Amino acid sequence: MPKDVPWHGKTVHTGVYKQTVAGPRMVRRLNIDGDGQGDLGGHGGEQRAVLVYQLDSYRFWEKKLGRDELAPGAFGENFTVDGLPDDEVCIGDRYRIGGALFEVTQPRVTCYRVGLRMGEPQMAALLVAHHRPGFYLRVIEEGEVEAGQDIVKESTGPEAMSVEELDRVLYLPGHTREQVERALRIPALSPGWQESMKTLLDQDDSQEAGGSSGSAGLNAAATAPPPAWPGFRPLTVTHIQPESRSVFSLRLAAADGSELPAALPGQFITVKVQPEGGAPPLIRSYSLSGEPGTGTYRISVKVEPHGAASNELRAHIRVGDRLEAAAPRGTFCLADGDNPVLLLSAGVGATPVLAMLHALARDRSTRPVWWLHGARDGTEHPFAQESHDLVSALPDARSTVYYSKPNSADRQGVDYAATGRLAPEPVRRLGLPTDADAYLCGPTAFMDSLTAALVDYGLDASRVHTEIFGSGAAITPGIKGAAAAAAPHQPAGPAGAGPQVSFARSGLNVPWNDAQESLLELAEACDVPVQWSCRTGVCHTCELALMSGSVDYSPDPVEPPGDGNILICCSKPAGEVVLDL
Ligand SMILES: Cc1cc2nc3c(=O)[nH]c(=O)nc-3n(C[C@H](O)[C@H](O)[C@H](O)COP(=O)(O)OP(=O)(O)OC[C@H]3O[C@@H](n4cnc5c(N)ncnc54)[C@H](O)[C@@H]3O)c2cc1C
Ligand code: FES
Repeated sequence: MPKDVPWHGKTVHTGVYKQTVAGPRMVRRLNIDGDGQGDLGGHGGEQRAVLVYQLDSYRFWEKKLGRDELAPGAFGENFTVDGLPDDEVCIGDRYRIGGALFEVTQPRVTCYRVGLRMGEPQMAALLVAHHRPGFYLRVIEEGEVEAGQDIVKESTGPEAMSVEELDRVLYLPGHTREQVERALRIPALSPGWQESMKTLLDQDDSQEAGGSSGSAGLNAAATAPPPAWPGFRPLTVTHIQPESRSVFSLRLAAADGSELPAALPGQFITVKVQPEGGAPPLIRSYSLSGEPGTGTYRISVKVEPHGAASNELRAHIRVGDRLEAAAPRGTFCLADGDNPVLLLSAGVGATPVLAMLHALARDRSTRPVWWLHGARDGTEHPFAQESHDLVSALPDARSTVYYSKPNSADRQGVDYAATGRLAPEPVRRLGLPTDADAYLCGPTAFMDSLTAALVDYGLDASRVHTEIFGSGAAITPGIKGAAAAAAPHQPAGPAGAGPQVSFARSGLNVPWNDAQESLLELAEACDVPVQWSCRTGVCHTCELALMSGSVDYSPDPVEPPGDGNILICCSKPAGEVVLDL
């Protein structure tokens, strides 16, 4: 059963510590009686009810790691079996053991807890690199199972794809399209792995068209095309335009007069804002709000009360000034298709979806388009005329604008449609098409509530896309109390003497400290929200964009990340770096 284990100054709630039991045990759909999983996000559930590992692999690891004390359960498995090697067992195979019938659903998930259990931090990567992951079973018929019973194969999975082959397709370089298509034809493959395979297939299509690199099956960050230039380059401010009381736009052009590379509609750039008086630059990201592909970029900045960069820009930026900018990045992009498009935004969150509206209008798209926007009142309604004109130019588009506190000059039916917020209740009444792709940008509470409402209304969850103007949600599997983390801050203890590490989304610059094992550990010491799972370069959960600089890896990633991205769990800065974190 799960227990709390101290680890790196934190507490991990984990069921990876298994003990052998004598006599029969009842195996049920979700658990063996007396067994439990600590973190149901990563383990357990119907598809991952029983974890299996082989004695032959025990012998392999004993030799490889020079260990002779590995007792059954050392790899966190429920069944330690003699036979059933990973390169023979196939996804979809059915086996009877005692009174229960099982089906193979997927390889083991790469997770740091097997390394924690074994005292080998790199174990998750080693299991993949040496093709010995082990696998999960689904319980088709519940029944009693006892050590010593025969394992009888009842049927072989369609496509005869072994656990080892499938694991290689996802985690190691060099899969073929045919392998991914075969995997997708196996009904027993768990839905999570099906999704990863579909993403791999989409990425293969986009690579044929010159698109992204890296493994999209592991992290959406790898679905973006490579950045158009490395690091930062100077752009010139050619135009400044007020958009509302608190939002103004900057038009940016290449300092050398050349055309800037086209960005995808929805992408953002990262700029260095130099404060007066020589303090270190503030690094901030801004979505591109103008029409993509015009050879220039437009960003639109909301002046936040007490906001350092936005006030600096409003007070001091002038036409002709230069701004250092990193290339467009991001995966919040308008997907191709013929289906309807819903663009929902609140406040300055209009910027990335406005670029999408521009792209649709430029292409004279016949897709049904819905522009839904929430503002406070007419003075805080940026792009009112521009979005109105774009919607009018499209053959099948409509717009509904909500003002939460209209003022006396605002005309209902002309400037805005209804009083109130763009919120779940009014959205449900709009008769939106359920086969749409939806793109949402605004405050977190706005996106959370509307995402839930749209999925509840019938949209496919994978078609509801959101952009966060700040740090994303953390993924810290099994760590207790992680949700209560403090706001990002300098790390405790004496400052490091290494190169500067900039966490762009958190607005934090920290000198590298050699006491840290990785950029991930430095981010954790600063309470910068991070995402990770294996912590040893195999799962790509920690993959993110590197805006500038370079890193050294140790250990090397099992499969390299996408161009312009890094894995922070196994890297240290090789000089000053700016991270999209
Ligand atoms: C992918 C992405 C896209 C983005 N796109 C856009 C965009 O299109 N337009 C846009 O405007 N922004 C955008 N942002 C947000 C932008 O990067 C900045 O975070 C934002 O402009 C605030 O920066 P700042 O330096 O002005 O505020 P900061 O100084 O970083 O302050 C952040 C917040 O803290 C508050 N604060 C600061 N100091 C105090 C204090 N002493 N007391 C109380 N409160 C305080 C500020 O009011 C502000 O709300 C985007 C961010 C990301 C990650
Ligand atoms: S956490 Fe798995 S690759 Fe970094």
